[in-house]
Amino acid sequence: MHLCHTVRTMNTLNRRSFLAVSSTGLLTLPAFSMPHLLGQPLKDPGTAGDNHRGPCVIASGNGLAATDKAMSLINKGMDPVDAVVAGVSLVEDDPNDMSVGFGGLPNERGVVQLDSSVMHGPTHKAGAVGALEDIRSAARVALDVLKKTDHVMIVGQGARDFALAQGFEPQNMLTDKARQAWLRWKANLSPNDDWLDDIQRDIKDPAGDLSLASTIPFTWGTINCSGLDSNGNLASVTTTSGLSYKIPGRVGDSPIVGAGMFCDNDIGAAGATGRGEAVIQNCGAFSVVQHMASGKSPTEACLAVLKRIASRTRQKRLLNARGQPNFNVMLYALRKDGAFGAAAMRGKRTFAVHDGKQNTLHTAPSLY
Ligand code: GLY
Repeated sequence: MHLCHTVRTMNTLNRRSFLAVSSTGLLTLPAFSMPHLLGQPLKDPGTAGDNHRGPCVIASGNGLAATDKAMSLINKGMDPVDAVVAGVSLVEDDPNDMSVGFGGLPNERGVVQLDSSVMHGPTHKAGAVGALEDIRSAARVALDVLKKTDHVMIVGQGARDFALAQGFEPQNMLTDKARQAWLRWKANLSPNDDWLDDIQRDIKDPAGDLSLASTIPFTWGTINCSGLDSNGNLASVTTTSGLSYKIPGRVGDSPIVGAGMFCDNDIGAAGATGRGEAVIQNCGAFSVVQHMASGKSPTEACLAVLKRIASRTRQKRLLNARGQPNFNVMLYALRKDGAFGAAAMRGKRTFAVHDGKQNTLHTAPSLY
């Protein structure tokens, strides 16, 4: 339904009949209605996603397979929380995605440690794991925390033990490609340690040119995926191998409920990728959902949180010559009525959307 038409229709409705009060006392929206919470009218930012209505799955740019899978499962009647986890599990299984699951880049000791969180709109339950080792799908383990325990977050050895108890198979998560990248990173750390880089080596290694290391950036690669079914029920999941070559035990935003993802079944769902420290310090995903609750469109909500992150970035080493953050964060938002949007801190970035008809990459607006 077009935005203008919806607004006109709403004006003819009695406001009390439009907004129902749920058993929790919160305002609730009928499925696919316009959020008009706190009395603020919506602004039309003019993007297609902000005007979409109906079932929808949104993910980060590496998530086209995930949105496709999740939408096909939602169409078959699967709960969105199971559908989005099944979607991101495809990416976790893909050794060519070096930012998530199997094949993810390891920590500074060469150990892959995974973070994930998941949230189910209808029950408002969340599950999360941090610094999980030897298990392929952190998202599935996080979903087991959500479904099978009264806890929200399990980390480290406890998360591994929990996963093994649930029947997950332990395996070496470090692929040959990720191991080579880690070795190149180590060899290029300093010319003064005992790891020889390509220039220092007397005998070249046929396995690879270590000078390539300078072209391997630190990555915060991650996948977030949020889904909405035709009953207006939402779910969101984020999963990652985290910052490459991190200090062992470092946990980013992905397993932090309210930072790496958040879902409120009365309002919408949101998620984040990029520099997790900045997202945690600004309660990224929760803030996006709150902005949608106050009437911002999904795109506007993402941009508002990015502005906040930028204005709260005060360390010189994180700013460029223009005083802008020199790192990227991307935020993704899906409102209860099916409107969606995303935004990036820097540059041209894509995100994946299945809008019920087609599964495509969209380009997000950016702050800088
Ligand atoms: N956003 C992923 C991380 O910082 O670990």
